[in-house]
Amino acid sequence: MTDLEGLAAVVTGGASGIGLATASLLAERGARVAVLDLDPASLKEPLVGFTADVSDDTSVRAAVAAAAEVLGGIDILVNCAGIGAIGTVADNPDEQWHRVLDVNVLGLVRTSRAALPYLRRSAHASVVNIGSIVTTTGLPQRALYAASKGAVFSLTLAMAADHVREGVRVNCVNPGTVDTPWVGRLLEAAHDQAAERAALNARQPTGRLVTAEEVAAAIVYLASPAAASVTGTALAVDGGMAGLRLRADAKP
Ligand code: NAI
Repeated sequence: MTDLEGLAAVVTGGASGIGLATASLLAERGARVAVLDLDPASLKEPLVGFTADVSDDTSVRAAVAAAAEVLGGIDILVNCAGIGAIGTVADNPDEQWHRVLDVNVLGLVRTSRAALPYLRRSAHASVVNIGSIVTTTGLPQRALYAASKGAVFSLTLAMAADHVREGVRVNCVNPGTVDTPWVGRLLEAAHDQAAERAALNARQPTGRLVTAEEVAAAIVYLASPAAASVTGTALAVDGGMAGLRLRADAKP
């Protein structure tokens, strides 16, 4: 399917995990795709990589302008770059709060602000932000990360309202636990990796982790003209984690 032919997309955090799966699917569906990442060296054609740090406004502005020039505009922006944090509200020092909010919330602000002039010129403008299961569900040891992803959801609604009359749609995707290098790093740090993976699988009603490709499919749907009437929504791709309550004994 090449339904995105003629469209240009920018994906932040597109050198790994969900971002890479999304950039690859956008390209497969016919879009011209630029990836903005701290380290885009591993990217392969047709993806075009630009070095950018979303916590640095100068770097974001330069990379977005360079991407728009190479692509001939921007129709789709996927804000996927993000970092995690573990701890209760008592655990993380102020510097870490500033750092995580700077990347996860202000990072999205910087790329959106730099891309808006191009998006306004597009007939199919769409922004997709990446939230998380922690946006809607309280998980232990994720106070700071949850605060950042809750802000992503509220910002999605506010941006959708601000730009709907300019023809720019804004939505977000809330993944459950996704099998990416990020979760791989969390597993490596665990005392008993097999037990940790089993616990993460069991936390999802589907009994397994979400794949990056499954999240990418939802992002690409929201980014595509097929979702022309969809704006200001959050689409959960979480194996039922946010919405379902199953009995622990597996009985119906
Ligand atoms: P990942 O660690 O595999 O990939 C993240 C990418 O973002 C990397 O390529 C990294 O270089 C880039 N990045 C990080 N900081 C950056 C910065 N300051 N500027 C530019 N690029 C930067 O992570 P994954 O799992 O693919 O996560 C992607 C997004 O999905 C994140 O926003 C994360 O919060 C979100 N998410 C992930 C879940 C999971 O279980 N893996 C679940 C829910 C949400």
